[in-house]
Amino acid sequence: MQLSNLNLATVPTHVGIIMDGNGRWAQQRKLPRSSGHKAGMNTAREIIKAAGKAHIKYLTLYTFSTENWKRSEQEVNFLMFLLKNNLRKEFERYKADRVRVLFSGDINGLPKDVQKEIYDVQNASKDFDGLNLIFAINYGGRDEIIRAIKKLTSDKDFSSEKLTSENFSSFLDIPEMPDADLIIRTGGEKRLSNFLMWHSAYSEFEFSDILWPDYTPDEFYKSIASYQNKDRRFGGYTTGNNDE
Ligand code: IPE
Ligand code: IPE
Ligand code: MG
Repeated sequence: MQLSNLNLATVPTHVGIIMDGNGRWAQQRKLPRSSGHKAGMNTAREIIKAAGKAHIKYLTLYTFSTENWKRSEQEVNFLMFLLKNNLRKEFERYKADRVRVLFSGDINGLPKDVQKEIYDVQNASKDFDGLNLIFAINYGGRDEIIRAIKKLTSDKDFSSEKLTSENFSSFLDIPEMPDADLIIRTGGEKRLSNFLMWHSAYSEFEFSDILWPDYTPDEFYKSIASYQNKDRRFGGYTTGNNDE
């Protein structure tokens, strides 16, 4: 599906992507898993561009989960190396496209050199007014909620009596982050794997069997078009279906 066939007036505000299938992509080619991750970075670059062109305001990419530490030291180290280098390499492109780069997850738990790159890119792009691009790194939906509860209970000015589902968001990693309208998962599995638990309460889901390194902007636009055909009732009625 081409961008020109997409109705830009009704694109989702916030799209989250679970970029899955790098390892299997590499295995199929008898390559090391690292080659899959490298190829996956190229896909991410293309999808970030595609999201910007479609005027999507928030794109969250699930990059490394709190559970991904279970992988081999070699794979984890490679992923950290790739992430750091990629942030530096892509910065000029982000700047040209006015992409504001943000991070969610427990950043303090990452290696110091990765943290430095994260804070540098975040700072340097903070005034850009294009796509808000969020890398979820060392991210777990439960972990984000637990850390939010710790923040709110240690905030002396905040009484938990005043807590609502609206103001709870202000304790999450990115307070301004809207609910995810659409969550896409590639790689064939149909599960959340601890992604955006708070923001996915009313998300629409699109699953693709394509392994992430093979995923394309065309497929991405197809998922958006499919999202646009859904009837989002939010527990209420379809417009025009209320007989009261
Ligand atoms: C997703 O691809 C990337 C990360 C989780 C970092 P995988 O590495 O999970 O690929 P598969 O699922 O093993 O194919
Ligand atoms: C989810 O993929 C995490 C990322 C894409 C970063 P996983 O491959 O880690 O998820 P599971 O293990 O299949 O649930
Ligand atoms: Mg996987």
